[in-house]
Amino acid sequence: MLASLMRTVNCGMIGGGTVGGGVLQALDRNGSLLASRLGARIKIHKVAVRDLNRPRKVEIPKSLLTDNWRAVVEDPKTDIVIELAGGTTTAKTMVLAALRAGKPVITANKALLSAHGQELCAAAAQHNTNLYYEAAVAGGIPVIKALREGFVGNRITHIYGIVNGTCNYILSRMKAEGVNFSDVLAEAQALGYAEAEPSLDVDGYDSQHKVGLLASLAHGFWIGPDAVHVEGIRNVSQLDVQFASALGYTIKLLGIVKKTGAKVQASVYPALIPDSHVLASVSGVFNAVFIRGDIAGDSLFYGQGAGQDATASAVVSDIADAVLDLKSGTPHRIPPFKTHNHKSAVLPVDAAVSKYYLRLSVVDKPGVLAKVAAILAKSRIGISSVIQPEGHEGESVPLILMIHDAKNSAMLNALKAITRLPAIREQPVMFRVENLD
Ligand SMILES: NC(=O)c1ccc[n+]([C@@H]2O[C@H](COP(=O)([O-])OP(=O)(O)OC[C@H]3O[C@@H](n4cnc5c(N)ncnc54)[C@H](OP(=O)(O)O)[C@@H]3O)[C@@H](O)[C@H]2O)c1
Repeated sequence: MLASLMRTVNCGMIGGGTVGGGVLQALDRNGSLLASRLGARIKIHKVAVRDLNRPRKVEIPKSLLTDNWRAVVEDPKTDIVIELAGGTTTAKTMVLAALRAGKPVITANKALLSAHGQELCAAAAQHNTNLYYEAAVAGGIPVIKALREGFVGNRITHIYGIVNGTCNYILSRMKAEGVNFSDVLAEAQALGYAEAEPSLDVDGYDSQHKVGLLASLAHGFWIGPDAVHVEGIRNVSQLDVQFASALGYTIKLLGIVKKTGAKVQASVYPALIPDSHVLASVSGVFNAVFIRGDIAGDSLFYGQGAGQDATASAVVSDIADAVLDLKSGTPHRIPPFKTHNHKSAVLPVDAAVSKYYLRLSVVDKPGVLAKVAAILAKSRIGISSVIQPEGHEGESVPLILMIHDAKNSAMLNALKAITRLPAIREQPVMFRVENLD
């Protein structure tokens, strides 16, 4: 196609920070390649920011800048709106305003989608346009596209995701270098890998947002953040990393979406996974998402889960989809989310079944194990192995129990009774074991 005859699609971007800057750079580098692939030229014709005078790592021409996001959305020349501002309040107003104007919206904002996704998807349908959000889960890994398109013919039975780079970085260094959680976190903050306020990452909430989105797409009913059970990694100690390793396991913060009978387990928690599984070797800030479909079998997606370029790659892929949908006049070719499952529900975490790793700190006297075993047996919980690591002397010594499949509620009840035993010296530590089979 002659370049001069090519249609130009104008994109208005709200946000010119890390991801916004990355999108500008990516289009600068690969704009003509994209044009030749899409048969349309992509132009970022306006960028809204908060502070027009802020120095920016990626310079944005002054002529594009405005500090009024409505000027981007309401400009009749804006064909596509890209929301890269973050937050959930004004961002929701921005996205709704664009959708109500019938303009396709691209967002990387997982917090916004997690909180208001159902309403935003409904607004897109109502106004005959679309919402694209590849960058909201696992950065540069095209996992949303995979679930919406690649696996459309599958029933998804399992998703296991390492979807928070900060947590994976911390846990990887704890295992590789024998360092403590708080020391790695402080260092990661100094290097800019972790936020000054790390709760969103280390307490699991960022993963919770992403797992809710993956679970909703995979199972066809909306799963909001409150339905996703979450536990973070603050309680993972160096001692447990070492014991897990000695037993052939690695501790990962795992997002889990598991079909269990008619229900779906959707959870985020630190879990022991076998060293022999490919997910155990996903290290540092990398993300990975393992998907099992009833027809495709097992697939693994691995890559950069965040960062300027990886996230920009996902946003650009959404721009390409939006451009093609505009060109062909099919705004609902792939709807952002479709309810197709009216019978399922989220399995309450109490009813979820898993194996467990239990570390007790006990007085070094005969008979303690028998008492612990009796409590577990009373709850019909089986022990698969017991390890009393050598080299620990003193008043109290560690006792590690690997527990067969048990209901979470039964395990917690048993744990309460175990904690009350006079021989137990510290609060017991319990992690789930996911064999990923
Ligand atoms: N960074 C990543 O690796 C990553 C990965 C995946 C997803 N995301 C998501 O992508 C989104 C953007 O993240 P980011 O890292 O690029 O954030 P950022 O660097 O803080 O950039 C945010 C940008 O939005 C602008 N902005 C904020 N409020 C605005 C308002 N009311 N009106 C106009 N502009 C406004 C800011 O303007 P000023 O520059 O003037 O302050 C800034 O340019 C977030 O939703 C985030 O969760 C980020």
